[in-house]
Amino acid sequence: MTRQSFYGLFKGKRALVTGDTGFKGSWLCLWLHELGAEVAGVSLPPKRGDDHYNLIGLNRLIRHADGDIRDLSALTKVFDDFKPDVLFHLAAQSLVRLSYDEPKETFDTNVGGSVNVLEAARTTESLRSIVYVTSDKCYRNNEWPWGYRENDRLGGHDPYSASKAAAELVFSSYMDSFLSRREGIGAASVRAGNVIGGGDWSPDRIVPDCIRALRAGVPVELRNPHAVRPWQHVLDPLAGYLLLAARLLNEPQKYSGPWNFGPDDGAVRTVRDLAEKIIEGWGKGEVRASKEAPGPHEAHTLRLNCDKARALLGWAPVWGFDAAAAETAAWYKAVSNGANALEASRGQIKTFMGGPG
Ligand SMILES: NC(=O)c1ccc[n+]([C@@H]2O[C@H](COP(=O)([O-])OP(=O)(O)OC[C@H]3O[C@@H](n4cnc5c(N)ncnc54)[C@H](O)[C@@H]3O)[C@@H](O)[C@H]2O)c1
Repeated sequence: MTRQSFYGLFKGKRALVTGDTGFKGSWLCLWLHELGAEVAGVSLPPKRGDDHYNLIGLNRLIRHADGDIRDLSALTKVFDDFKPDVLFHLAAQSLVRLSYDEPKETFDTNVGGSVNVLEAARTTESLRSIVYVTSDKCYRNNEWPWGYRENDRLGGHDPYSASKAAAELVFSSYMDSFLSRREGIGAASVRAGNVIGGGDWSPDRIVPDCIRALRAGVPVELRNPHAVRPWQHVLDPLAGYLLLAARLLNEPQKYSGPWNFGPDDGAVRTVRDLAEKIIEGWGKGEVRASKEAPGPHEAHTLRLNCDKARALLGWAPVWGFDAAAAETAAWYKAVSNGANALEASRGQIKTFMGGPG
């Protein structure tokens, strides 16, 4: 994938992103801005002073509105005011562990909130392309060694996974009942795995846990060191979302439906492998198995089959496991040493697209 693949795709387009204050949403908004789109975002305010959104000063680059996706009238106002061409829906309660403590809020946001987003979308005449983000955890997990395909059965043990499976059902109902009947609009649901990258400080995620420990000069404690996950750099699935959104604008029928965006098999690695790579990039540190009791149930093995995205979209992961971990560690290290976060993120987007210039 080269810079050419993205250049010009969004110039002058109006892109609305739900969840712009979050980890993936803030990278996506920056990338869209770099590609010449006019970007608006709606979400809850950022949670921490050092969230990627704050560190890169995204509120100066895009039009952000504080808003709760559980509030349909507030959401409708944002759509009516901005009149987007393209919608990326990322807002969610995104943490598996928190979903055990706050199952109702998780379902209200991830299912009810997503209904509101699609409700606002279906009455927005300017919209021509919708990318609706769920998760690789939307599949009923059989602990298979092989990858899930887009037509595999949905399901979910923990409330987060179940909410994402339910959000998929909501999507297909809106698709069948409303969106597929409208001329000139395409919509896709997208399922990606565990993403890593600079500026994520969420609790209970391995990279932020590593960086907090490394900054404090204490060993990185791992709760589930042997759990296997499909790790990928945040820019890899976002590249898929961008390519897909652009194709939906031109050929809505061909590209509508569900899509997986996971890493190559070489990036399906243990939590311990990732922590060790992050430490290698940071320069020093050590891992230690945690004495804490293991957390509530989480799927042990999860792989995605991405043949559809490769064959029909020409998408493929750009950064393998080593590069994804190295770029992530480099971002945190540079910013911890005083580098400008906006320039660090812009630089990584340029490198990802094929170098400067
Ligand atoms: N990070 C991952 O590894 C990963 C993996 C698979 C899928 N996903 C999905 O990708 C999307 C983005 O994930 P992320 O890592 O950026 O999450 P995040 O937690 O960093 O960000 C979540 C965003 O949603 C917003 N939000 C939450 N509740 C809201 C509400 N009620 N109303 C309005 N906004 C609300 C937050 O303000 C924030 O902007 C989510 O849908 C998540 O489930 C993430």
